[in-house]
Amino acid sequence: MGSEHRYGAVISETAHFLPERIVTNAEIEQHVDTSDEWIRERTGIVERRFLADDEPTSHMAVEVARSLVDKSGVDPLSIDLVIVATVTPDMFFPATACIVQGAIGARNAWAYDLSAACSGFVFALVTASQFIQNGAHRRVMVIGADKMSSILDMQDRNTCVLFGDGAGGVLLERSEDPSLGLVDFEHFSDGSNVDCLNVRGGGSAHPATHETVDKRLHYVRQDGRAVFKFAVVKMAEISATVLERNGLTGQDLALFVPHQANRRIIDAAADRMNLPADRVMVNIDHFANTTAGTIPIALSQACAEDRLKKGDFLLMTGVGAGLTWGSALFRWGV
Ligand code: ACO
Repeated sequence: MGSEHRYGAVISETAHFLPERIVTNAEIEQHVDTSDEWIRERTGIVERRFLADDEPTSHMAVEVARSLVDKSGVDPLSIDLVIVATVTPDMFFPATACIVQGAIGARNAWAYDLSAACSGFVFALVTASQFIQNGAHRRVMVIGADKMSSILDMQDRNTCVLFGDGAGGVLLERSEDPSLGLVDFEHFSDGSNVDCLNVRGGGSAHPATHETVDKRLHYVRQDGRAVFKFAVVKMAEISATVLERNGLTGQDLALFVPHQANRRIIDAAADRMNLPADRVMVNIDHFANTTAGTIPIALSQACAEDRLKKGDFLLMTGVGAGLTWGSALFRWGV
């Protein structure tokens, strides 16, 4: 099992928020040369949600944070840390996590954003767990939130069909039983591949000018085929590594919550672990790829369906821009 630690870092509450507006494949067909059939067959996506133009990512993250507080009944003043994983922050700075912290009155918490694209939530969750396992903190809020519609080029069929907006999050709390909560993780980055998926404009490399906007550099660009090949291998590989290292097989998992980028990537990972379909969370059909939002949204849905019991093993795996990939094994603690 994973490294020695003093306490368990246990997920005690989950919540998610999805915008009301449903954007069907038929609506996307009005923007680019694509078809409902192509999108369904190649990605598994049927529809996605888009947030209103005048609502930022923090709108979704704050909804999730409020819901976590309401559902759990915890005093916001008892929260030690708020981490928001996002690549679509409201502004470069301050962090969207600070906006969330202010909105819920978590005045004793420090707050920061973590940027690791589609691996963002898993990276944030494992980072937060360290503070709990080593005894520094008792209660941390971890949220994954992205308004991908704010960086989508609705004239680029290679990208605009794939993404949606959404947010999810968890409360992570100290347990006196160190065998509960985060058991093990494996995280990687490959910075030699920054070009295959990025937003080039608006940062310090290409500060926003009329030219960067004319060249549409403020939108997501990707080499879909390269990302697909990478993701289909890595999601399966890293998930299997974490299981095997802990003497587990797919049969021991109560639930696998993968990042939702493409149905074919999810199926390949489930096959590699010999996982029956009913142990794999899939919601890409309704919500598409919400980047840092996919895993906590799916986890929150699973909890609403009462799919996890104390002692169950849960595996969460993400792959995304960077490139980044990570997998976290939890033993459910509540
Ligand atoms: N509608 C119709 N045709 C399309 C569309 C579309 N929306 N998009 C691409 N095509 C065309 C291409 O132009 C290409 O045509 P060509 O052969 O004439 O050049 C053809 O379809 C096949 O393109 P491929 O890229 O080979 O199609 P593929 O089966 O790989 O599917 C996809 C493309 C869905 C983008 C896939 O590569 C994918 O899912 N990649 C993962 C990317 C991803 O999700 N990234 C986001 C986050 S990172 C992460 O989470 C992993």
